[in-house]
Parts: sequence; C-alpha cells; structure tokens
Amino acid sequence: MTVVALSGIRGGVGTTSMVAALGFALHALQQRVLMVDLHPRNLLRLHYNLGLDSPHGWASVDQDAAGHWNEALLQVVEGLYLLPFGQLPADALSALEQRQREQPQEWWQRLQTLQAHFDWIVLDTPATLPGGQPTLPLLPDTVMHIRVLETDAACHALLSTEGAGDAPLLVNRFDPISQLQRDLLLLWSERHAQLIPQVIHRDEAMAGALAWKSPVGYYAPDSLASQDVRSLATWLLAQEARRA
Ligand SMILES: Nc1ncnc2c1ncn2[C@@H]1O[C@H](COP(=O)(O)OP(=O)(O)OP(=O)(O)O)[C@@H](O)[C@H]1O
Ligand SMILES: [Mg+2]
Repeated sequence: MTVVALSGIRGGVGTTSMVAALGFALHALQQRVLMVDLHPRNLLRLHYNLGLDSPHGWASVDQDAAGHWNEALLQVVEGLYLLPFGQLPADALSALEQRQREQPQEWWQRLQTLQAHFDWIVLDTPATLPGGQPTLPLLPDTVMHIRVLETDAACHALLSTEGAGDAPLLVNRFDPISQLQRDLLLLWSERHAQLIPQVIHRDEAMAGALAWKSPVGYYAPDSLASQDVRSLATWLLAQEARRA
C-alpha cells in the first residue's frame, strides 16, 4: 500500500480536484484506491456526487463515542472508496485539532489498518491547519508527499522564501499560452529536480467536472486535463515500482 499526500503550496491551486482526479485515474489502472479528505472544508465529497448538506464523514463519526471512523468509508465503485471529512461545528473542530496535536500518530495508525485492502491511499491535506501549523509532519517519511502549485508569481515567491524541500512538485492549471508560465516552468525545471515531468493543463473540463460533481476522468475522459492526470497516475505507478 502506498500513501500519497497532496497539499497545496498555497490554497486554491487545485489540490482537492487533483486528489479526486488522481484517485479515479489510479483506479482505472486497476488499482484499489481510497481517497481521504483531511481538509476541514470537506469539499472532496462534492467530486463524487455527495450532497452539499451531507454531514457524512470520519470527523463526524469521531464525535460519537460509539462510532468508529471507518464506518464513514463510502464505496464509489468496486475498488474505489472515499472517506469524506464530514461536517463539524466550530467548537467540535477546535476539539478535533487539539486531539490531532495530542495524538499526532493517530491518522497514520488508522491508515495502517487498511493495508490489506488498498494499493493506494490518496490524502487531500491542507497546507496548514487553521491554527497555522503544518499538518504533514504528522505523517512519516514513507508517505509520498506531493506539493501542488501553479506557475504564477505567488507560488514562485513561496518556493523562494520557504524553500522547495524534497517533495515532488506538481504543476496544475498550466497554460502554455502564457509567456510568464512558460518562463516559470523552464526556470523551475532547471532549479528543482523534484519537479514532476507531467504538468496538468488549465482546462475548462476540470472546472466543469466539479460543477458536474464528478472527477474529470469520468466527466470528460478525452479532455487534456484527464489525459494529463492519467499520465500522472502512470508516472506514480512507475515511481512506486522503482521504490519497491
Ligand atoms: N487544471 C485546472 N483547470 C481549470 N480549473 C481547475 C483546474 N484545477 C482546478 N480547477 C478549478 O479550480 C477551483 C479550485 O480547485 P480546488 O478546490 O481543487 O482547489 P484547492 O487547492 O483544493 O483549494 P483549497 O486550498 O481551498 O482546498 C475549482 O473550481 C476547480 O474546478
Ligand atoms: Mg481543497
């Protein structure tokens, strides 16, 4: 089982859309996949047709002393599962964050119990907790951490000031018409060896997919973004084969 955590270098770069699309693409490559929403905004569910008012999710079940987090697992189709975050009132969210600080290993222990059932677990992880603390140190080094970003000046500034780290960098919403984006991509490919060779292009199909409440591979299988994500999934499988 490979755990891959996606987080944006900043908000709004398309991390949740990417988790939804990548989970779908890995499943299409005959992988058993679980997508987990660790983001309190709870938006991943919308990519798999859950209702806006659906309270269903692991954080909601955690509130119930008699409940068990994995009761919130949803089967999309055979071999493809989703674990939504759920809806929590603000005070319950604070209590949850406090518990995560006190038991930083909790999620890793939970994921370990799923070893036999999945080939891939894809995590939608916020870049920072609402309190400002980074979430990813709570996961061990064996987790593949992908940082999602856009070829814009804001991401360039963040890469420069905060450092790129070792994690693979995934460019989303790339628009080759833009001279600035082409220049930044060239610069980053020279500076950052960990830049993933496959970019995800800016594509209306990606935006339409969310409006249609589906991952892009289902909504528009022949779209450019969908082909990009399929290539990304194949690249990940190759990386994993090399690591094994
Ligand atoms: N490659 C793309 N081309 C066009 N639109 C995209 C692309 N990727 C994502 N989007 C759109 O951008 C918007 C934001 O995407 P998304 O919610 O996935 O971002 P996010 O990084 O998860 O945001 P947050 O930081 O708030 O969690 C959505 O409307 C989505 O459809
Ligand atoms: Mg998101």
